Amino acid sequence: MGDSETVEALQRALATVIDPELHRPMLQLGMLRDIAIDGDAVSIRVVLTTPACPLKDRIQSDIEAAVVGVVPGINAVRVTWDSDVSSTRGLPGRQEIAGVRNAVAISAGKGGVGKTTLSVNVALALQQSGARVGLLDADVYGPNVPLMLGLTEQPRANREGKMLPLEAHGLKVVSFGTILKPGEPVIWRGPMLAKALREFLYEVEWGDLDYLVIDLPPGTGDVQLSLAQSMPMTGAVICTTPQDVSLADVSRGIQMFRKLNVPVLGVVENMSGFVCPHCNEKTDIFGTGGGRELAERYELPFLGAIPLDPRIRLGAGGAPFMVSLSDTPVGGVFRDVASHIAAEVSKENFAAAPPPEMPGPRMRLAG
Ligand SMILES: Nc1ncnc2c1ncn2[C@@H]1O[C@H](COP(=O)(O)OP(=O)(O)OP(=O)(O)O)[C@@H](O)[C@H]1O
Ligand SMILES: [Mg+2]
Repeated sequence: MGDSETVEALQRALATVIDPELHRPMLQLGMLRDIAIDGDAVSIRVVLTTPACPLKDRIQSDIEAAVVGVVPGINAVRVTWDSDVSSTRGLPGRQEIAGVRNAVAISAGKGGVGKTTLSVNVALALQQSGARVGLLDADVYGPNVPLMLGLTEQPRANREGKMLPLEAHGLKVVSFGTILKPGEPVIWRGPMLAKALREFLYEVEWGDLDYLVIDLPPGTGDVQLSLAQSMPMTGAVICTTPQDVSLADVSRGIQMFRKLNVPVLGVVENMSGFVCPHCNEKTDIFGTGGGRELAERYELPFLGAIPLDPRIRLGAGGAPFMVSLSDTPVGGVFRDVASHIAAEVSKENFAAAPPPEMPGPRMRLAG
């Protein structure tokens, strides 16, 4: 078989590989690059839309199944992994934040369900997967992020007068809590609040970020409105607990985001069952499944269930769970939730702006 026939057969074979989350051909999406034939092996650089992709094994075996034994003369596939996080499309009337590819808000119908815990640990899980991540604590009424990350210093400004985010465990962090004096009453309202929020978005030197995670105050108030109306938000994640008997607050939240054109990425159930820190066994104390039912009712993806684990609360004093205990089963749950969120972000971006069809891949015959 001649070389050009091998290249053509390889191209036909690779064109059948479908991205398991985006459900479109990976070749067409430009995700298979630097394809080179060297003897009886093919090497491919697979460029994922997020480094937090849990499906690498599946993608690898799909490529192998498409090629090995199909393309004559090819017996092995060598995959190298790379990522290029997709970016939210702009929206008319909403100002992009320079350098920020995606902004994901963590919200809940009421207080105390674990928004800050989820924001901090999902941000850390994304960062640990290799993404560049920022965390904006937009809970002006009770900014808890500094406490959870052990941040006590005040942010500084760069030469142009833009605020420099604080750094914690590889995250870039901006919080109202670091500019308020302890115990100072919060009096942000209406126009003043909107102005302060704009400064936190646009007068900050965020640098290049794949994900900006935003910890929202509870409910559907001024902060949510202000943020959703000023910036292009990739989407919102709804955090709930099994005890959320009244779903009215939650559905108000979902409806608010939908009205503001902010996609709802899905539902996370927190405090879902109890995991014994000694034996890792799970017991359902308050019941589970409410989050999944909610997701079904609103036809939203269910992003995962995080159990009650006393070590999560203990980690709220500066060394968050995903820093000190990421190797535990609950650490794996946070990683899964983060991957799910990243996948929904990629889907949202591809649905909003289909990428241009790639020209035929350039394939190279090595040696
Ligand atoms: N899965 C969990 N297991 C154990 N404790 C948890 C879990 N999730 C959150 N907590 C604890 O519950 C309390 C409330 O969580 P958190 O502060 O994250 O909620 P919140 O929704 O941000 O609250 P607020 O509305 O006050 O901002 C904290 O003490 C936190 O450490
Ligand atoms: Mg909070």
